[in-house]
Amino acid sequence: MDLPVIDLTPYLAAANERSLDVVPSMLTDRLGPELTGLCSEVSRVLKETGALLVKDPRCTAEDNDRFIDMMERYFESPVEFKLLQERPNLHYQVGVTPEGVEIPRSLVDEEMQEKLKAMPREFQPATLVGPDRKWRYMWRVGPRPLNTQFQELNSEPVIPEGFPQWKDTMDSWGYKMISAIEVVAEMAAIGFGLPKGTFTSLMKQGPHLLAPTGSDLRRYGQEGTVFAGYHYDLNFLTIHGRSRFPGLNIWLRNGEKVEVKVPIGCLLIQTGKQIEWLTAGDCIAGMHEVLVTNRTIEAIKLASEQNRSLWRVSSTLFAHVASDAMLKPLGHFAESPVASKYPPICAGEFVEQELAVINLKGRQGEHL
Ligand SMILES: [Fe+2]
Repeated sequence: MDLPVIDLTPYLAAANERSLDVVPSMLTDRLGPELTGLCSEVSRVLKETGALLVKDPRCTAEDNDRFIDMMERYFESPVEFKLLQERPNLHYQVGVTPEGVEIPRSLVDEEMQEKLKAMPREFQPATLVGPDRKWRYMWRVGPRPLNTQFQELNSEPVIPEGFPQWKDTMDSWGYKMISAIEVVAEMAAIGFGLPKGTFTSLMKQGPHLLAPTGSDLRRYGQEGTVFAGYHYDLNFLTIHGRSRFPGLNIWLRNGEKVEVKVPIGCLLIQTGKQIEWLTAGDCIAGMHEVLVTNRTIEAIKLASEQNRSLWRVSSTLFAHVASDAMLKPLGHFAESPVASKYPPICAGEFVEQELAVINLKGRQGEHL
């Protein structure tokens, strides 16, 4: 199954031309039937698949290439060099996390393990043997609140030596990804019958994190090797540019497992636990895993022939609801018969609770 690609261009043009800050009943008039239909398509695909492919004219394939080129060069550096950017005393909140540190939730969550056993065999995720075999780099993006109950550790961003373009490349990719997420969040809100700014207003000053991963396919290029075990993301929405190596599987709402193919120049968005909370489970957090598949092996062969890097880089950004904002079912979702499963909770407290499950409290933005 191929996911549809939603082009954000017509919505962006409409949002520039006319004010869309009106009540939902007037929005249909302002947007016209085509754009209203496009917004419904965004919310429908997010609900049914937990993922969405978009094309944003402001985020080009060249931007993605520039970011991945730099991250490949970084991950290819010697281990001793990369460990200079490791900050375990800061719970890896900034800088690099070596492979073997992150633990997929399915390895420690017994309830999840029971659910996995009940799945039809062909849809079961890969069997896990231990921590994820991927490196990650954490870079905070965007302004943070001056007054908050959830002060992030006052740690300086970590910039590796010999990468003069690091800050610019990270910030520019990060801001572009946040802009794309904001448009999708607006369109999704409209599609769900909520005012356009419902989600984006909660995202303001959120602890957004650019957190690219690097997986060494030269060392771990055997089919079936798991780089990120079956899990959901605890944040609001996650976005990535196209990776040079395929390998992401997602689970649709109907339980079916699907390998995602991201076309060149497109971005992939995935639903996290916070959007599930805000919609009382109308849209659930998408389960996913990353592993070496037969398509990854083909891409490895081609990259070797062309003498390209064999590090699989994901250009991931986790967009969050602001830590001091409340997570609770919004608008008509508050009337949902299952709304009580999603009691009001501060987003910052929610993140801490989720992290406690896998014993990584204090590590904002952790990827569960
Ligand atoms: Fe994830």
